[in-house]
Amino acid sequence: MTETIPTIQIKDAAKYVGQRVKIGAWLRQKRGSGKMAFLQLRDGTAFFQGVVAKADVSEEVFETAKELKQESSMYVYGVIHADDRSSFGYEIKIDRIDVIGESHDYPITPKEHGTDFLFDERHLYLRHIKPFATLKIRNTLIAATYEFFNKEGFIKLDAPLLTGSAPEGTTELFETDYFGQEAYLSQTGQLYAEAGAMAFSKVFTFGPAFRAEKSKTRRHLTEFWMIEPEMAFFDQDASLELQERYVSFLIEKVLEQNDQELDLLGRDKELLRSYTQLPFPRISYDEAIQLLQDNDFDVEWGVDFGSPEETFLANHFSKPVFIVNFPKAIKAFYMKRHPEREDVVVSADLLAPEGYGEIIGGSERDTDYDYLKQRIEDEGLGLDEYNWYLDLRKYGSVPHSGFGLGLERMVTFVTGEEHIREAIPFPRMMHRLRP
Ligand code: 4AD
Repeated sequence: MTETIPTIQIKDAAKYVGQRVKIGAWLRQKRGSGKMAFLQLRDGTAFFQGVVAKADVSEEVFETAKELKQESSMYVYGVIHADDRSSFGYEIKIDRIDVIGESHDYPITPKEHGTDFLFDERHLYLRHIKPFATLKIRNTLIAATYEFFNKEGFIKLDAPLLTGSAPEGTTELFETDYFGQEAYLSQTGQLYAEAGAMAFSKVFTFGPAFRAEKSKTRRHLTEFWMIEPEMAFFDQDASLELQERYVSFLIEKVLEQNDQELDLLGRDKELLRSYTQLPFPRISYDEAIQLLQDNDFDVEWGVDFGSPEETFLANHFSKPVFIVNFPKAIKAFYMKRHPEREDVVVSADLLAPEGYGEIIGGSERDTDYDYLKQRIEDEGLGLDEYNWYLDLRKYGSVPHSGFGLGLERMVTFVTGEEHIREAIPFPRMMHRLRP
């Protein structure tokens, strides 16, 4: 009778202790002596060690193990054992190796490499521990986003990516030719989400956003993913309450589902957990300016915050903090005028602590047809492109609010990664279009 050998994935090793299994895997690294070969294996679900003992296997198997090169692929066969010395907790005692694909001169060797090199090789670098853990957490945030908004009664509404409008300003636009017309890659799905909110009450868009950012900061991509909920009949307070519950939910899901990945990245889980406590503090832009001035920042009322200011403000509260009611002059045309003040709008940015910067930008939307028309003209945005948007104020306009969460900013915050390029599979930045 032939033995039936289960084909398993490394992540499920715990369920097969004492059993002989087959696993499709790649070789990450290898060390050994004349008597033993230790194969560091990965299969896309986890990492663990395969042990080949010369005394226990045929000469051919031991020779194969010794000859294996970094990133060659294979089926390994053997018995799963508990292994208290490794953080994963299990290993496989290999008795047979079927090589599938050889690999020669794999460029990302175990030594230290510079970031530019690693991102030139991003198609291969994806296989390594840091990208693995970071992008698995990104995936949890994506799934948790759908879960949260479904639970809250939202529908997902897909906004177009080729548009004629530039609601977030005209300085950072990617232009493209659209059969002889000028078109842009979308900076935001918001205006379409507003149309959706008037049809479905609560909607969210989730897609790429494009900004021709010439700045080379560690917080900016030229192509990033944004989640933009839009809610009819929500004022700013209702929106802020939703935002903080959403962010807290995202962090809780990662703590629940990515314990191993957070450990691989060395993220402080207790600190992360402290960010799930609600509510998040709210301070006005005016108060933020005062606080900064009291702490020797050279800022005047009316400026936008840079990275040092954002870092100081969120660290001051040791939590994500909402800064509300920014100067009208530095914000987008659609934001609602403050009922008592000419110079500020009913907006809010959510700043993350530890230097991760702004993760959410949002506002209540102005509902007045004439005011918005004037603002569009004043900003030189071209009324023709916005007539459809103005229709939303003509036919049963209602108070509404919305916000945009930058997925990669959230990923860096949760994972503790220094640079936003780690937070997306194939980053696009001013000097990076490939691979
Ligand atoms: O504050 P922003 O520009 O807001 C909007 O686009 C609104 N339409 C959102 C809305 O109200 N529906 O961008 C929202 C978020 C920022 O807080 C940040 O997290 C992220 O998008 N973001 C970027 N992320 C990476 N690279 C960039 N260049 C980004 N620009 C904005």
